[in-house]
Amino acid sequence: MKEELPITTWHGPYDAATKARALAALESGNVLYFPNLPFRLLESETEFLDARVADGKAKNISLDHTSGKIQASSLTGEHAVRLAAMIERFGSSAGALVQGLLPYGDVERARTSFRPVQVKGRSYSKISDDRLLHIDAFPSRPMQGRRILRFFANVAPVSHRHWHVGQPFEDFARRFLPQVGPHLPGKSWLFEKLGVTRGRRSLYDELMLSLHDAGKLDSDFQSNSLHQDVRFAPGSCWLVFTDQVLHAALGGEFALEQTFHLDISQMAEPARAPVRVLERLSGKVLV
Ligand SMILES: [Fe+2]
Repeated sequence: MKEELPITTWHGPYDAATKARALAALESGNVLYFPNLPFRLLESETEFLDARVADGKAKNISLDHTSGKIQASSLTGEHAVRLAAMIERFGSSAGALVQGLLPYGDVERARTSFRPVQVKGRSYSKISDDRLLHIDAFPSRPMQGRRILRFFANVAPVSHRHWHVGQPFEDFARRFLPQVGPHLPGKSWLFEKLGVTRGRRSLYDELMLSLHDAGKLDSDFQSNSLHQDVRFAPGSCWLVFTDQVLHAALGGEFALEQTFHLDISQMAEPARAPVRVLERLSGKVLV
């Protein structure tokens, strides 16, 4: 479930055995853990280790690397520029590592986030509470079967980031697919027209959202399903397909995260992609 890779550098070349191990671990639904790969802040950036740099409205501060703009930060002027530079330096480092370590030729770098607020003690509705086991599926961002790969760094000085990692995706899908109601024709079209979604949701997107919600709303599943307690030390990083690996973020503060999207055609074993698993289980074409 948690596979350690003892690399110490952000740039390759990495040896063939390391690359093969990383690929196999990721695609089979493990969390790839880098205990010896700290993302170091500059002395001047330690001022950002403060929950007040978030505006208090959104969970995370996010950076769109194509525009250089950050959202949901309380900072302005020169401080905001330096915070954006820190998040960008992390995002480009994560991009270099993913390019060097994995054979995926075409990986899209999506948003980068900084998560400065302690996870414990925040209150949410169940559906938006990521302290509950879930797979990632985003209401406004249809994936059309593409993968969500996320790279995280714990930049907290002392506290671990604490996750639960749940059962294999297929077991989870088998449990909840029978509960998922029929897809309403016209809804995806309407949501796209109204601008609720960026692009149109496929059947795959509808199904993933339904599974995400059904899992979070089932308290027996949350309390009693098999899971592993995983702790990410300060100064460590980890990489995981969050659309496949059931995860819950229970505690920790000051994490950075870079999201990547990729087509399943890039994978060594596309049959392991959630879209292929769901198509096999449901007997339907989903994208
Ligand atoms: Fe998540």
